[in-house]
Amino acid sequence: MFNEMGPYTKNILNKELLVALRKKKYDFKMSESLIKFNDRNKQGNVNLNKSEVKQSGTVTNEDVIKIQQREKKIIDWKGKIALSPLTTVGNLPFRRICKEFGVDITCGEMAMCSSLLQGSPQEWALVKRHHTEDLFGVQLCANNPHVLTKCGQLLNQEMDIDFIDLNLGCPIDLIYREGGGCGLLRRSKVLECCIKNLSQILTIPLTIKTRTGVYSNEKVAHKLAPNFQKWGASLITIHGRSREQRYTKLADWNYIKEVAQAAAPLPVYGNGDILSYDDYKVALDTCPELAGIMIGRGALIKPWIFTEIKEQKIWDISSSERFEVLKKYTNYGLEHWGSDNKGVENTRRFMLEWLSFLYRYVPIGVLEQPPQKVNERPPSYMGRDDLETLMASSSARDWIKISEMLLGPVPDNFQFLPKHKANSYT
Ligand SMILES: Cc1cc2nc3c(=O)[nH]c(=O)nc-3n(C[C@H](O)[C@H](O)[C@H](O)COP(=O)(O)O)c2cc1C
Repeated sequence: MFNEMGPYTKNILNKELLVALRKKKYDFKMSESLIKFNDRNKQGNVNLNKSEVKQSGTVTNEDVIKIQQREKKIIDWKGKIALSPLTTVGNLPFRRICKEFGVDITCGEMAMCSSLLQGSPQEWALVKRHHTEDLFGVQLCANNPHVLTKCGQLLNQEMDIDFIDLNLGCPIDLIYREGGGCGLLRRSKVLECCIKNLSQILTIPLTIKTRTGVYSNEKVAHKLAPNFQKWGASLITIHGRSREQRYTKLADWNYIKEVAQAAAPLPVYGNGDILSYDDYKVALDTCPELAGIMIGRGALIKPWIFTEIKEQKIWDISSSERFEVLKKYTNYGLEHWGSDNKGVENTRRFMLEWLSFLYRYVPIGVLEQPPQKVNERPPSYMGRDDLETLMASSSARDWIKISEMLLGPVPDNFQFLPKHKANSYT
């Protein structure tokens, strides 16, 4: 897609590549040889002399060593704020809004390697990048080094991406049971293989996003963190909760500190429960070791959190200013998903998913003790005007009403149930 400034949505899957993937004609020799080579030389990087150079398909061992030794792009992670990867809601129009409010790093929603390799258009949509996303990563999920390394090669060669993030936190049962996401935390040999091969195939940095562990009483991130650097990772983000916990308890920032200390000198970002500049400051005061902070639900509930942090203030944003943000999202949504009926309904669906988080924002003027905390459910309240009251409603019917103010009436029999339980307090 183009405007007078040039292409503004990048990483669009072209037809040739789609066909190559569908017909399994894409040349993955580089990743296949790398995995074979690393399998044979379990130590990873080895120096072979000429007589030891063997053929591995059309890629020789010498070629593999050259692949391993390519120069990597370096990113300065220090002092930046990152938007979490957020399935469904962290779409491109939402990330544009966050960029405008000042976030530094953005990341696409978790993409399944197997679906990318099959050329699934829905999965490739998760790789798209707006030109304003000037430090942008793609998050990958897989349960084995083969698909992960191939995907790394493919994205590195074909797309414009600054870093690849490996998901070690996804708690979804199906993915976990098959050994992906959080499941990789329990398969240390496979995990080592995944990180080593993926980091070696990439010329861009590999980052890792992990939870504390699978079980609350069995934290593992601090033990794995020093290995992550040895295996080739450039950054760890630690979400201070276990798989078991989901969102039931507050993130453990003391443990986040432990991980940052164990990982040093590898940079670490802390993640969990940040909803204000106050929270951000307390987190960094508790863990000065951290290179930066990642924010998830805080950005969904109030995307202007990035401005608050950058300007070190509390912003008593009015309902009309908040409505303007939704208007912008509408325009960005129609641009992204199309302005035909299908595009309008897609924009509406994604807006409703977002509204199921946005309603949790409590205006500063209404709070007894600002700033708001992520786990505090406010008693029901009247806003300072009708729009503020409407925006505070936890009823899907009112979210639909807001969508109708921006996108016109919903089709007959329209229903909406939010996908994510994380939008509610319990
Ligand atoms: C709606 C939603 C979708 C999420 N999707 C992803 C995802 O695709 N990949 C991921 O690593 N984490 C995902 N997470 C977890 C967040 O990235 C983040 O680690 C977690 O919410 C804790 O941060 P917070 O307390 O700032 O929200 C998701 C969280 C939410 C609420």
